[in-house]
Amino acid sequence: MPKVYITRRIFPEALEALKAEGIEFEMNEGPQLTKADLRAKLKKQEWEGLICLLTDRIDREVLEAAPRLKVVANVAVGYDNIDLVAATARGIMVTNTPGVLTETTADLAFALILSVARRIVEADRFVRAGKFAGWELLQPHLGVDVYGKILGIVGFGRIGRAVARRARGFDMEVLYYDELRDEEAERELAAKFVPFEELLERSDFISIHVPLTEKTRHMFDANAFQKMKKGACLINTARGPVVDEAALVEALKQGKIRGAGLDVYEEEPRVHPELLELENVVLLPHIGSATTETRLKMALMAVENLVTALRGRVPPNLVNREVLSR
Ligand code: DGY
Repeated sequence: MPKVYITRRIFPEALEALKAEGIEFEMNEGPQLTKADLRAKLKKQEWEGLICLLTDRIDREVLEAAPRLKVVANVAVGYDNIDLVAATARGIMVTNTPGVLTETTADLAFALILSVARRIVEADRFVRAGKFAGWELLQPHLGVDVYGKILGIVGFGRIGRAVARRARGFDMEVLYYDELRDEEAERELAAKFVPFEELLERSDFISIHVPLTEKTRHMFDANAFQKMKKGACLINTARGPVVDEAALVEALKQGKIRGAGLDVYEEEPRVHPELLELENVVLLPHIGSATTETRLKMALMAVENLVTALRGRVPPNLVNREVLSR
């Protein structure tokens, strides 16, 4: 019977699915394991499968601790937490959970666009503090309109396109930048492909949907903020390190950009202390995919990937296909 280690708590339904497949598993019921603890845990038994979360850094040393490992099933669409080169070199399949979280994450990106534009969180704090003294024409929380504005989408994959679909309902003009141009999606969504610089210069709202790679790390740096339209808003539901947080803080403090809506951070769970001080920023704890329905689908998808790999077949969401030709 293959043995599987699960790094954090997952849904009982997903555990049932593992049991139904006759898979023996152990799950860490406690807090996030340190790298040393995870290595020690992996060394203890002959694990063939690992189910992990995006908060687990699965690097070369961690993989070395489990010499019989065949598959790492990440419960996330992003897999920047896993050293793919090291996994492939060891013949380990790596899988992710694409598709099931697309609409949920796009909903959250749109919620952030609306929250930042209409200062919803700030206004809520104001009411709770007992400061609402009645309607006024020039009341303190005047925001900006979303409808009819220009939305720039950086990364036109599944989630970026789902955000574009929502923008149509708001009569927004949609610009996008991606390494790959997708003319069919452009026609379907009435979106226009533009160079990154043009997107920065023209967009009223910019929503980030690129994966974290060496190319996208700090794609939004001081230079990018300098080029952004004055008064624009930045939304990030992708990965924190795509944005240079120190540069973002400066751009916000100088009034170069109007506001930001962030679901992800450079060094999660740490949030840049100056962001916490700024009123024109909405800060969420990485909840892009956090609906019960979607998180359950992600867990079940990870189990399906894992089981398929352990049965010696190609899992549906294999990320490192090169491993097959080893
Ligand atoms: C992912 O799946 O990569 C998301 O960040 C989880 O919400």
